[in-house]
Amino acid sequence: MTDRPRVALVTGATQGLGLALVKGLAQRLGPDDVVYATGRDRGRLDKVAAELGGLGAQVRTELFDVADPHRAEELAAALTERHGGVDIVFNNAVMAVTPDDDARAIVGDYTQVNNFGTTRVLRAFTPRLPDGGRMIVVASSLGTLRYLAPVLHRQFDDLATLDDVDAAVAAWRDAVRDGSAFGGAWPAFVNIPSKIGQVAAVRTLAAQRRDGDLARGVLVCAVCPGMINTRISSVWWDVSGAPTPDEAAVALLELAQGPVNPDHYGALVREHQVLPWR
Ligand SMILES: NC(=O)c1ccc[n+]([C@@H]2O[C@H](COP(=O)([O-])OP(=O)(O)OC[C@H]3O[C@@H](n4cnc5c(N)ncnc54)[C@H](OP(=O)(O)O)[C@@H]3O)[C@@H](O)[C@H]2O)c1
Repeated sequence: MTDRPRVALVTGATQGLGLALVKGLAQRLGPDDVVYATGRDRGRLDKVAAELGGLGAQVRTELFDVADPHRAEELAAALTERHGGVDIVFNNAVMAVTPDDDARAIVGDYTQVNNFGTTRVLRAFTPRLPDGGRMIVVASSLGTLRYLAPVLHRQFDDLATLDDVDAAVAAWRDAVRDGSAFGGAWPAFVNIPSKIGQVAAVRTLAAQRRDGDLARGVLVCAVCPGMINTRISSVWWDVSGAPTPDEAAVALLELAQGPVNPDHYGALVREHQVLPWR
């Protein structure tokens, strides 16, 4: 890390895990450091700022709707200009869906937030990471090829560029929209291909950047926070006994601040263990 104050940013920070990550970062960083809680709603961001003032680091807010095609690049450029760099980025935002939602109707918005939003954050912030920086994509243990029929593996495996990952996600989205996904091998739960797409994006970018990033102490990885008691999980399962967002955030915050384990680079990590992709 650098001598200048450190800067962190969390997407989807108005509730759930994102809010806990902002809180944990603010508690762990120093008074000169800045943590940006970002989200799509000004009123909810103001509540976060009021709730998390005076913890340690300064908590500031920025509007960042990750579905906006231009905002990631605009914000990455502005914050780099303002601070000299953003050291820690948690790509965490997720669109909430329920078992009652029609997959055909929601998959466009869902991929715009969860997948194209992720690749836009990866493109905008990763090349600007300072030495010692962290780009951590909050995915899921469902984001491995194990959860996809073998006939579909090549769609997400060993893709050369983030454009290729976006094209693979768009092909799946279109198959859901036109209904052809349901007669084929695709899983019905949209979360699975979406999370696989996020991990594929991390793997693809990491393959391009690995040696240079590791030489500078930079970590790019995906993480699984495990089941958490939040809005998105509670509409699907009984998560009353699951960890709280504050509890689930601990292992992720350790990745953001501890020394880089090269095994974690480009991988999907859960509780410091690498989950196999295949
Ligand atoms: N909960 C689990 O059991 C679980 C398990 C595995 C992985 N995860 C992953 O953990 C991450 C956090 O999930 P969570 O459980 O904390 O979900 P959550 O409680 O529903 O929070 C999601 C956050 O994303 C924000 N968001 C939604 N659309 C957005 C957009 N277009 N732009 C910016 N922010 C947006 C929401 O903002 P609003 O407040 O404005 O809606 C909210 O702050 C996700 O990536 C999720 O897939 C969760």
